[in-house]
Amino acid sequence: MIKSVEELQVSGKRVFTRVDFNVPLKHDADGAKVADDTRIREALPTIKYLMEKGAKVILASHMGRPDGRDPKLSLEPVATHLSGLLGAEVLLTDDCVGDGIEMIVKYLKASQVILLENLRYHKEEEENDSAFAHALAGLAEVYVTDAFGTAHRKHASTYGVPSIMPVRGCGFLIKKELRFLNKLLESPEHPYVAVLGGSKVSDKIKTIENLFMRADTMLIAGAMAHAFNLASDSGFKLPANAKKPKPDEVEYAKILIGKARAKDVKLLLPADDVDSFDIGPRTIELFRAELRKARTVFWNGPVGMFEKPEYAKGSMAVAAAMAESPGLKVVGGGETVAAVNMAGVAARLDHISTGGGATLEFLEGNGLPGLDILDTFTKKTQPGALT
Ligand code: 3PG
Repeated sequence: MIKSVEELQVSGKRVFTRVDFNVPLKHDADGAKVADDTRIREALPTIKYLMEKGAKVILASHMGRPDGRDPKLSLEPVATHLSGLLGAEVLLTDDCVGDGIEMIVKYLKASQVILLENLRYHKEEEENDSAFAHALAGLAEVYVTDAFGTAHRKHASTYGVPSIMPVRGCGFLIKKELRFLNKLLESPEHPYVAVLGGSKVSDKIKTIENLFMRADTMLIAGAMAHAFNLASDSGFKLPANAKKPKPDEVEYAKILIGKARAKDVKLLLPADDVDSFDIGPRTIELFRAELRKARTVFWNGPVGMFEKPEYAKGSMAVAAAMAESPGLKVVGGGETVAAVNMAGVAARLDHISTGGGATLEFLEGNGLPGLDILDTFTKKTQPGALT
C-alpha cells in the first residue's frame, strides 16, 4: 500500500518533495512568468502541511525538456510565484546536486522551503542514473511525491530516489488523483462516455483498448478521428487540408473498431466538420445527446483546434454538455484543461487531472512506475491503492 504523507514522521526532517511544476511560462520584456499555475496550486496542500509540521521542505521538479542548462527553462519564475502563493520565502538553488546544495540543506530550518533548480539540467535525471539518484536521496531523510503528472516517467527523482529511500509516501494531490481515477477504472457508473480527441491514435491506443472494457460509448474526434474514419469503410474522403494519418494509425484504428464491435461499445465518429479543424453542428448534437445521459464522463483531447476562435465551437460545446451531465465528470491533459477553462465550466466538473500522459497511462490499468515504487515493500492489491 502507498503511505500518505500524514502517516510519515516529517517534523524536523528534511523531506525531498517531488512536485510537477512543469507549467506553461510566458516570456515578456520583464522576463518569464507562470502562465497557468494549476499544478502549483494543486501542490499547495502538501507543501503547507509539511511546513505546518515543521519539516524542512526540499522541493524538486523538472521544467520542459532541456538539453543541458537552459536559462529559459529555469524554475525561477515558479519559485517567485510559489513564494507569493505561500506568503513565505522560497529559495531557488542554482543546481539540484553538489557540495553547495548539500551545505544549504544541512542548515535548513524547520518549515523553510527551498526549490532545487530544474532536475533535467542533468541528463542523468531522465536516465535514472544511480549515482545521480543517490546524490538526490542524500539530501533528505524522507521522500514525498505529489508529482502525479510525471508518475509515468521512470526517472531518477520519480523512481531511483524513492527506491533508495525507505521512508516514502505520497501527498494530497496524488491521493485526490487516485480517488477519482480509480473510480473510473474500478466502478464507473453507467452509461460511461469517454471523449477522446487530439492528434495521434498510436499514443492513445492502449488507453482506448482499456476504455473498451469499461466505457459504453466513445466519442472520437480531433485529427485522430481521420484515422478511424478512413478505417471504417464508410467511403470517407480525407479533406484536402487535413493531415494524412500514418498507415499504421489507420491499421490501429481498424483493429480498435473491430474490438469496439466485439465488446458492444458504441463508437461515434464525427458526422460533419468545419474545414476539418473542428466538429460540425450535426456532430455537436450527436455528442451532446450522449453526454446528456452519461453517469460518468472522461474527456481527454480537444475535439478541434480550439485555440483559433473559428474552430472552438466544438470543444466549447463538449465542455458545456459535460458540465450539464448529471454524473461524475473528469478531464485530463493540458490542452483539454485549457479548453474547459476557456469554456468557463471548470468549477462544475468533479476532477481536473494534473496529468496528461500520466492520466492516460494510469487509465490503461497497469499502474505507474512513480506510484508503484512507493509500494514495493508491501503486498500490492491494485494499482495505486492507498492505505
Ligand atoms: C507533463 O507535462 O506531462 C509532465 O510534466 C511530464 O513531462 P514530460 O512529458 O516532458 O516527461
